[in-house]
Amino acid sequence: MDKKRDIIIVKTSEALAEKGASLFSEMALASTAEKDRFTVALSGGSTPRKMHVMFGQDPYRSSIPWNGVHLFWGDERCVPETSRWSNYGLAKGDFLERLDIPVENIHPMPGHLPPEEGASLYEKEITGGFDLVFLGLGSDGHTASLFPGHTALEERRRWVVAVRGGRPDVHRLTMTLPLINRAEKVVFLVSGAEKAEVVKSILEDGNSDLPAGRVSPVSGTLLWVLDWEAASLLKKETARG
Ligand code: 6PG
Repeated sequence: MDKKRDIIIVKTSEALAEKGASLFSEMALASTAEKDRFTVALSGGSTPRKMHVMFGQDPYRSSIPWNGVHLFWGDERCVPETSRWSNYGLAKGDFLERLDIPVENIHPMPGHLPPEEGASLYEKEITGGFDLVFLGLGSDGHTASLFPGHTALEERRRWVVAVRGGRPDVHRLTMTLPLINRAEKVVFLVSGAEKAEVVKSILEDGNSDLPAGRVSPVSGTLLWVLDWEAASLLKKETARG
């Protein structure tokens, strides 16, 4: 097994959220102790929401050194922040409004701007690689807003680009593979039986054509955290990581 890739399987989506939150907390404490800063990119969609809610509750609300934590997003839909499709808008309600975190530490993608302008602006806000990037997985193998067959997958220079697609099929901003793969640690959180086929395709059949299959940190580590349903088609030897 690739030494830089690990797989952790937990029983339920709640256990998945707790695993993600505890990983985040451990890394935030270590990183802020070492360099007064922890830079993380959150993923969108529904899977991370239980984890996000945990961030807004004790122990995480009071134990994570939020003053040193800088929150970015791996992708965003170009919709109003009040839309149910806004990753930032959901995060605000799920936990941001409950945190004592400096407003300058929160870096939403500017989905309200013309997409190309928003992509260029956000890129300027990113000063280097991330300590941690959370990613989700679509059943078609997309991650962030990098969709199969899209030209954004071939981007080699830019760190943030504007795309169109997904569900909802709207304009989006997304981090690119060059930026994602600069991270110290990339963590996929994947839950549900509807992801089992694509999880097997990537983790067991080695399908590196799919966007999520092309996430491979250059010098960092890659962790897949799956619940039983998402891991249900993996052979035991694969699941051992
Ligand atoms: C997005 C997400 C996307 C998501 C997957 C899985 O903004 O659409 O970043 O990549 O992680 O589509 O979504 P679910 O967690 O809702 O299954």
